[in-house]
Amino acid sequence: MPIQFHKKTQTFHLYNNQISYIFKVLKNHQLGQLYYGKAIHDRENFDHLFEICQRPMAPCTFEGDLTFSLEHIKQEYPSYGSGDMRHPAIDIIQENGSRIIHFEYQSHEIIKGKLKLKNLPATYVENESEATTLRVTLYDHIIDTKIILSYTIYEERPVITRHAYIENCGTQKLILNQAMSMSLDLPDQDYEMIELTGAWSRERYVKNRQLEQGIQSVYSLRGCSSHNFNPFIALKRKDCTEYNGEVLGFSFVYSGNFLAQVEVDTYHVSRVTMGIHPHYFSWPLQHGESFQTPEVVMVYSSHGLNAMSQTYHQLYQKRLARGLYRDQVRPILVNNWEGTYFDFDEDKILEMAKTAQKLGIELFVLDDGWFGKRNNDLAGLGDWYPNFDKLPHGIAGLSQKIHDMGMKFGLWFEPEMVNKDSDLYRAHPNWTLETPNRESCHGRNQFILDYSNPEVVDYIYQMMIKIIDESHISYIKWDMNRCMSEVYSSVHEASCQGKVMHEYILGVYHLYEMLTSRYPDILFESCASGGARFDPGMMYYAPQCWTSDDTDAIERIKIQYGTSYVYPLSSMGTHVSAIPNHQVFRKTPIETRANVAYFGTFGYELNLNQLSQEEQEIIVKQVQFMKEYREVFQFGTFYRLKSPFEGNETVWIVVSQDQNTAIVGYYRPLQEVNQGYRRVKLLGLDEKKEYHVSILEIDCYGDELMNVGLITSDSSCGENKDGNGDYLSKLYILKANS
Ligand code: GLA
Repeated sequence: MPIQFHKKTQTFHLYNNQISYIFKVLKNHQLGQLYYGKAIHDRENFDHLFEICQRPMAPCTFEGDLTFSLEHIKQEYPSYGSGDMRHPAIDIIQENGSRIIHFEYQSHEIIKGKLKLKNLPATYVENESEATTLRVTLYDHIIDTKIILSYTIYEERPVITRHAYIENCGTQKLILNQAMSMSLDLPDQDYEMIELTGAWSRERYVKNRQLEQGIQSVYSLRGCSSHNFNPFIALKRKDCTEYNGEVLGFSFVYSGNFLAQVEVDTYHVSRVTMGIHPHYFSWPLQHGESFQTPEVVMVYSSHGLNAMSQTYHQLYQKRLARGLYRDQVRPILVNNWEGTYFDFDEDKILEMAKTAQKLGIELFVLDDGWFGKRNNDLAGLGDWYPNFDKLPHGIAGLSQKIHDMGMKFGLWFEPEMVNKDSDLYRAHPNWTLETPNRESCHGRNQFILDYSNPEVVDYIYQMMIKIIDESHISYIKWDMNRCMSEVYSSVHEASCQGKVMHEYILGVYHLYEMLTSRYPDILFESCASGGARFDPGMMYYAPQCWTSDDTDAIERIKIQYGTSYVYPLSSMGTHVSAIPNHQVFRKTPIETRANVAYFGTFGYELNLNQLSQEEQEIIVKQVQFMKEYREVFQFGTFYRLKSPFEGNETVWIVVSQDQNTAIVGYYRPLQEVNQGYRRVKLLGLDEKKEYHVSILEIDCYGDELMNVGLITSDSSCGENKDGNGDYLSKLYILKANS
């Protein structure tokens, strides 16, 4: 039984072979946190882990007892104001204006498997034996309100998921001002916090900082999870590397505003809090109403960062992503965006498709510009019907023709947005998020539809299904190209405006749910100006995401490396684009562009007809290569070996499930003069198997490649094609000799 409740000591122990998580009911009936980390033996009594002492000035709970102060007690779901001075997990404003709450343990249940989260994305199980769930009910008798804290521990994974449910069972009108998904008090501060930060076109760079007393956090208040901070943090010990040492990961299954915070008090206790950002959030709770927080996925690793990432990869690939493509290799696509931008018509698209088909490409994706009066980014969003000036046979006709060539067809939508110059806006000017009597910011000339209004969501759904039903569509790219501002919904009362940002995200999830259930065979790729919504919430609906608008291979090394901290290769949209690159104007060899893009879903984003014969021949080979190895790239085990954030070389490896095939990606952006010898120790191979190593054309045992290393010195691979020596990359294919 991976969850024990020890009745005598009122202690919960969630454990499997890898992790333990322990908390107990305290003397004041609240929950106290005792331990989270590597698995330890179960026992009836863990009370010795409950640390308490008398500290001057501390507000104490029991008269005559100078030790029991919530200020100094490690807790499970704390509130502010009854002794605890730190940032809380929950804040409720009551009718009399008070914000003091006291949630006491009432009951609990332990159930097999994992329950679905209503209207929210979450990890799941396929059969009940995969996980066990603990639901602890806490009750505040003064306000007749309950909280159910939910914990799921997976049997075979070092994973615990958490979320909270709050229900007003009384008659007071309450306002939920903050409801975090989890809070965890750790006994010390000897950690570095890892975050994935960036901006448009440089998403998810890896940053480390030492935890300090006070608050450190990452967050989004942009209405999307954002380019700037990913909803993820990890706390690693100083000696933790990619391969060794302890790290705790926290990942938030949500696509809107979030806060991931670590507060270190002056006694070195670190409080980790994660959930919907409390700013701009306020949720009235009338009698019988409830609020469900999204889920946090906590991963523990005592074997370094690679192991943490692999746990996330496997879980998100198999128990978060859903649908037909969860387990299937992804079609190799060509997307016309960087090839044509808005400047296309049916003839041009068909010419491109013909070439794509000839080169072995499987899916043609028509990006922005096919609908309404969309000839630039000033008009058309919201009018999801074909622009017959450009496409005289509509999407139905075009998709049929591409289908007849033997290729799949995919289409771009940006369903949450509207241009003022559109039929939709002219008909429904009050369907946007706009604050009365105030000017609204635009972003890329577009405004945001009010997805907290179900009528809007349904209207867009009807438009989308009409075009999908009448066409041959196998893939949808769902884009979202601006942050929210002046958020206000005309369909909500004044007191409910604090609900709008979350209800908007629920509207997005609802539309995704309706579309993915109606079209289970369509592959969805999420996108938000590249990677502004590369988050686990989106992965539940769309198993792949456009990683970044930056398609330059050298820039992508860092972006994909950082993304791999949490997200599997099968989720990363990766394309070979033209040179000079459209974002950084760099000219990289076509081999290097592909050598980076193979580690993802793979495709092309350029006008294939503008390529030379020689380049087209190279593409034929690249496509064949990807078809042969995509199972390994997309469903193998990925290890980071050398970081682009630490030097000029990056190395990573992906190993097939049976360990018979492995592919090493080696990248060295800048030529260096007169360098020493280089080698890199590989990971994940079978030490007893003998592998043939391409490029070097030698046979080596797995143990040699992992303990001595793979020699990557330049002299072994010859000249760079480009002639200038920069932007070098090599792919070593390792195949076990039978
Ligand atoms: C966003 C996407 C791009 C492309 C354009 C189209 O920027 O990230 O890939 O689809 O929109 O407008």
